[in-house]
Order: sequence, then C-alpha cells, then structure tokens
Amino acid sequence: MAPWQTDWDIARTALDWQLEMGVDEAICDAPISRYELPHKRETPPHPPASPGPATPAPALAQDVDPVAVARGLAESASDLAALQAALAAYDHCDLKLGARNLVFADGQPNARVMIVGEAPGREEDRQGKPFVGEAGQLLDRMFAAIGMGRDNPDPAKALYITNILPWRPLQDRDPSSDERAMMRPFVQRHIELTDPDILILMGRVSAGTLLDTTEGITRLRGQWCKVMGRPCLPMLHPAYLLRNPPMKRHAWEDLLSLQARLRGGK
Ligand code: URA
Repeated sequence: MAPWQTDWDIARTALDWQLEMGVDEAICDAPISRYELPHKRETPPHPPASPGPATPAPALAQDVDPVAVARGLAESASDLAALQAALAAYDHCDLKLGARNLVFADGQPNARVMIVGEAPGREEDRQGKPFVGEAGQLLDRMFAAIGMGRDNPDPAKALYITNILPWRPLQDRDPSSDERAMMRPFVQRHIELTDPDILILMGRVSAGTLLDTTEGITRLRGQWCKVMGRPCLPMLHPAYLLRNPPMKRHAWEDLLSLQARLRGGK
C-alpha cells in the first residue's frame, strides 16, 4: 500500500474497478466465494435409458465457423433494425459478455457520409452510442469545421456513424483479428443497407479491417481508395489526434479533401 493511500482510497479504487468490469448491482451484504462452496455433483434425474437407435451427435461448438454464422445472419438482414437485431442475437463474440450495451450507430442513415470507427470506449458502452467520449467530441468539432454533423437533417451535411466492433473491448485493448473477422460481415452489410456516397475509415483498425491491410494509418490517411465499390478516405483517429496534437493539420487536410469531393458530386 502506498503511504498516501487510506482505506477509503483503496475501497474507492476497488469499487471503480468493479464498475469498470460491469458490476452494477449488489445482491447481498457479504460476498460469497463460489470456489469455497461444497461441490455439488450433478446426478441425472432418471437412470440412463437402455440404448436405443443411435441419434446424430449435436454439432460441437468448435465445429461452428463464427465468420460463416456472422455472414449468414448479416446477409439475411433486410434493413438496419434487422441488422441490429442480428448483431444482438450473435453469440460467438465474447466481447458481448463484458459490454453493458450494443453500440450500433448514431446520426442520419440517409447521410452522404458514413464514418466507420474502431470500437466503443467506456462512455460509448455506457450510453450505447458511438463516439460520445472525449475522442467523439473532437470528431464532432472536426466535422463541424466543414459544416457537417450527426444531427444535421440535410443528407449533404449529415453524418452516419458506426464502428467495426459494436461491443467495448475490456480495458480498451485492440480488437483481435478473430474479432474483426467476425464483425466484418456485419459492417459490410451495414454499409450496403446505408448506401453512403462516401466512407470515412476512422483510424488504423477501421482502415485495416475494411481495406484488409496491415499498412499503417499514417501512410494510408488522405489517400482516396475504394471499399465495396465506393470512395473511401482513411483518416487519423481523433483519439490519436488527442495524443498527437501536431498531427491535427493532417486531419484538417483530409477534411478539406472530403469537402472538395462532396462539392464535386458523387
Ligand atoms: N473510438 C471509436 O473508434 N469509436 C467510438 O465509438 C469511440 C471511440
């Protein structure tokens, strides 16, 4: 224990940690260690029946291809509400277990510009909306500087915002390649259903997942490319800009490039 820490400090830190882990309810006064309870052996309710005709064994969890399941669910969604429901029903991504909310999207689905970020952080997980924390506030200011915003009802000035991952990774770690592969069919379907004129790939994880590259975002940013046949612009993530303020000038260049593209038509 550090000399300056009181019992109050320690209790407060432990409580913050529990909140961060998703504990939101106390159900009894004293903790119960399930590991110390006497082990209960499961007994079958009836003696096993005499062997009948063989029935096929159910598919084992490891036989299931989570990416194929994701593709099937995503492709069968005919609108955004169905896609959100399909994501909520998808049980192969463990991030779901640690998240408070599924963070689907925010903004105007008819916007000409769709932004795809990385994953919800703490504030997004709490509110169930993408980009509402500190990085999200910077994102809003960046786009407001070129007259665009998620609340703008004019499709030419509106934004529609989602993420590669709809669930927050604990401790905000980088999503694994398996997690990204599982979520990619859902994001691709999200893009098809929303049908934006322009995609903004916000940050390394978004650009890496949708362009299928390991090229760094500082090389990719500002270079127009195509995803699913539509123009897209990789940009530096606002969280990165908060840590590296001198790089904001590149974000400004990219915003001007987006503005010029929008003015030049589809
Ligand atoms: N960073 C992201 O990429 N997405 C969010 O929703 C929040 C922070």
